[in-house]
Amino acid sequence: MKRLKERIVKDGKVIGTEILKVDNFLNHQVDVPFIDEIGKAFYELFKDAGVTRILTIEASGIPVAFAAARFFGVPMVYAKKFPNAVKDESAEHLYQSEVYSFTKQASYNIRVTKEYIRPGDKILIIDDFLANGKAAAGLADIVHQAGAEVAGIGIVIEKGFQNGRQTVETLGYRIESLAIVDSMGENGIVFRE
Ligand code: G4P
Repeated sequence: MKRLKERIVKDGKVIGTEILKVDNFLNHQVDVPFIDEIGKAFYELFKDAGVTRILTIEASGIPVAFAAARFFGVPMVYAKKFPNAVKDESAEHLYQSEVYSFTKQASYNIRVTKEYIRPGDKILIIDDFLANGKAAAGLADIVHQAGAEVAGIGIVIEKGFQNGRQTVETLGYRIESLAIVDSMGENGIVFRE
């Protein structure tokens, strides 16, 4: 998505060689009309995939998933995140999965109430960043626990120098990223064509 790449170049701040801060339109302040365009871009990519629900993870996935859901005309559900990685085995009304964050070097637990993903649903997973793919894989795990199907994975910014794509493709999912950053540093931000 050309406008996204231009926006990353204009407003993105590179921290070291691995972290891209895009707080002024995506991760802290939200540029609503621009995120709406991002939602539309996901709709164009996945409109023939039979999507019945969109699933994301709090916090920064929410605006993007919300925007996409408006174009699909389907509900948006967000997984809630809990710092205690251990599953609550007594919570029978929840689907849960454990996610390890390489960025934060810690595991956390994600949860979705069972009534919000149904067997037979075709779920589009959406997230703001793809780094190592663990959050996307955890969301896909929840979709499978529910007897639903992953229609695809839509990512706003993929860090192509980390192994998230490999992780989710190995699991057999279609993944579409609106911008793929191949490297960051002294030569600026290099996007995959
Ligand atoms: P993974 O799911 O792909 O394996 O990624 P990882 O755990 O390593 O990432 C942890 C958090 O850091 C995620 O957000 C992810 O979106 C974010 N993240 C990873 N790399 C970058 C980056 O280069 N720039 C920015 N801005 N974020 C990055 P989170 O902690 O769940 O945060 P939030 O959604 O609650 O804001």
